[in-house]
Amino acid sequence: MKRVFSGIRPTGKLHLGNYQGAVLNYVKMQEEYNCVYCVVDIHALTTLSETPVLQKNINDMFLDILAAGVDPEKAVLFVQSHVPQINELAMLLGMVTPLSWLLRVPTFKEKARQHPENINYGLVGYPVLMAADILLYRADLVPVGSDQLPHLELTREIVRSFNSRFGHTFEEPQAKLTEFPLVVGLDGKDKMSKSLNNHIEVSATPEETAKRIMTAVTDPARQRKTDPGHPDVCNVFKLHQQFNAAECPIIEEECKKAGIGCVDCKKRLAACINSTLEPLRERRAILAEKPDYIEEVKQDGAKRAGVIAKETLAVVRDRMNLK
Ligand code: TRP
Repeated sequence: MKRVFSGIRPTGKLHLGNYQGAVLNYVKMQEEYNCVYCVVDIHALTTLSETPVLQKNINDMFLDILAAGVDPEKAVLFVQSHVPQINELAMLLGMVTPLSWLLRVPTFKEKARQHPENINYGLVGYPVLMAADILLYRADLVPVGSDQLPHLELTREIVRSFNSRFGHTFEEPQAKLTEFPLVVGLDGKDKMSKSLNNHIEVSATPEETAKRIMTAVTDPARQRKTDPGHPDVCNVFKLHQQFNAAECPIIEEECKKAGIGCVDCKKRLAACINSTLEPLRERRAILAEKPDYIEEVKQDGAKRAGVIAKETLAVVRDRMNLK
């Protein structure tokens, strides 16, 4: 059976972008494949500011992923640093990864631009660590959002580089995108992301959700309710397409003839998102009362992931003639 691996950074609570972009596939794929899902705490350390809240973030991520429907009976769910072999494999893969490959990765360039004072070795090595995740667990398929495709490409290059130097050891993994691999943020400019504060957390209350949606940018040409709107350039309409497909034709028509204003349109979006997320939010509230269960899931996950990790590392050490 094919193996699936994916990682998610514990930088805060799960938001609609992560959910639609990747976690929906986590849930689907556990029915068909051997799935390994990882909360990547070491990756979170590459941007240091989260450290004080790291454990809370890990816990929130576990609650969100479990509430979204990942079933620890079907999939392995664990914390990256609980399986220490990851560090050794990342170090060893670094030996076959030219620095020039890492310096041209778009996410690195972007982070280096945003925080020129904090360009550390770990940040440059981020994609090597990610390749190590995927290869340590020998994944065939990697469910991710489209922003991660350059990292996947780099992982495949590292595989080829390793295999050509040490003999065929790893297979090249493939990305698996969801139907909506990129969710736009409320600002309408960028992808939904916590760092841009243009996101909606899946575990937000219905009131918070509605309030945030009210702040969303819409068609800039539509100043008054009586102006006809242009759904094709409207950020809120894009969100309707992703979360409220059934109502889209009528909303499109009404917007174009100014039959519905932006406030009403946002209210409908909020209602639909809230009803979609209601079961998840109910499950999350129940799980939040069971810290012992969450701890058990983490420990059991690390044990099962550790078995695979040790096997892989033994092969890699042998290939590299480390005895
Ligand atoms: N870089 C990914 C992100 O920011 C997280 C990640 C780390 C990951 N390791 C991974 C994703 C391995 C897929 C596979 O979303």
